[in-house]
Amino acid sequence: MQEELLLTPGPTPVARRTYQAMSQGIFGHRTSRFKEMSAGIQEKLQPLFGTDNPVAVLTSSGTSALEAAMVNLVDDGDSVVLIVSGVFGGKFADIAGRYDLNVHVYDVTWGEAADPKAFKEYLNGLDNVTAVFTQACETSTSVLHPLSELADVVHNYNEDTLFVVDAVSALGGADMNMKRDKIDCIVSGSQKALMLPPGLAFVAVNDRALNKVNSLGNRRYYLDLRMYFKSLEVDYTPQTPAVTLYQGLDDVLDMIHEETIEKVFARHKNMQKMLRRGLEALELELFVKEEAASPTVTAVTSTPEEIAHIKNTLEKDYHITIAGGQKDLAGKIIRIGHMGFMFPKDMLAILSALEDILSRLRGKNYYGKALTAAQENLYDKA
Ligand SMILES: Cc1ncc(COP(=O)(O)O)c(C=O)c1O
Repeated sequence: MQEELLLTPGPTPVARRTYQAMSQGIFGHRTSRFKEMSAGIQEKLQPLFGTDNPVAVLTSSGTSALEAAMVNLVDDGDSVVLIVSGVFGGKFADIAGRYDLNVHVYDVTWGEAADPKAFKEYLNGLDNVTAVFTQACETSTSVLHPLSELADVVHNYNEDTLFVVDAVSALGGADMNMKRDKIDCIVSGSQKALMLPPGLAFVAVNDRALNKVNSLGNRRYYLDLRMYFKSLEVDYTPQTPAVTLYQGLDDVLDMIHEETIEKVFARHKNMQKMLRRGLEALELELFVKEEAASPTVTAVTSTPEEIAHIKNTLEKDYHITIAGGQKDLAGKIIRIGHMGFMFPKDMLAILSALEDILSRLRGKNYYGKALTAAQENLYDKA
């Protein structure tokens, strides 16, 4: 008998108390009980986004929130810029390509963060850009982009241009704040740092972006945020919501506030540091430089053979699941998720397994090396 350890960058483990919260039994979504729960959720959710505005909660996966941002903030014929630094930037580009938009792709080398200076030069060469879209954490490479610097570039370009951030793999693990960082819209999903099963998506907009949402016509329906914000005025949803996931959401937000948001972020940073130092001690090359590393996921490079061996052996012999590379990075990197209901002890568990796997595979003695390097950071409460 073995307990599985899920260390993928989504979906992530769900706490037992959250499963219990989700099994309290279904109740109607047009009841005072739901209304009360929804109001409480709003109160606890908004500080995570750094907004005082209502956050739309959609019953669909993260991609729906990416599309919702696209259809609610830009109109047919508008010019948009997409910062593409990996698979999920590509997803924004795919969505934009389905609409009647002038799409400008700003390519960033995979594994690097967007450089605000270079981006400024690029953006200044374009006319009338309505919105700039980026990931916070590009999950496929484990990079965290410098959001507040990019926001400055966007707002200095034109004060009406909107800055939209996909924080599906950042919100709840990385310090995000719409007000402080001048982000006009943040979208996210439930199955990553918010430690819920998949199935909910979130869209937060500031007042500028809300004006845009309200000014656009009727070329959207299920993702029409006007309906969500109108329903939220009375703490309801326009359609039948995933009530069970709402019950879970209510619980994970309690967990986050019980730990405190600051300590949640510090725990994520702490796990990142432990893992990076431990992986280096195993002579695995970190894919992303220190200053661009996400607090939610870490990638290392190796040979395709070693990657396959590590991944398969972790799964088969240690019951630990991690992720490989996607698209251009398939067979080139492995990614370890450290977000949500994950803890420093989980980092020790995977590093210890990797010590064993690599000692056997390479005929070298790594025992204790990664653990020592990680433990030096374990007590360094960021
Ligand atoms: C940064 C990012 N954006 C968007 C998505 C898509 O979310 P979903 O698969 O929930 O639709 C993901 C999923 O991994 C992601 O990591």
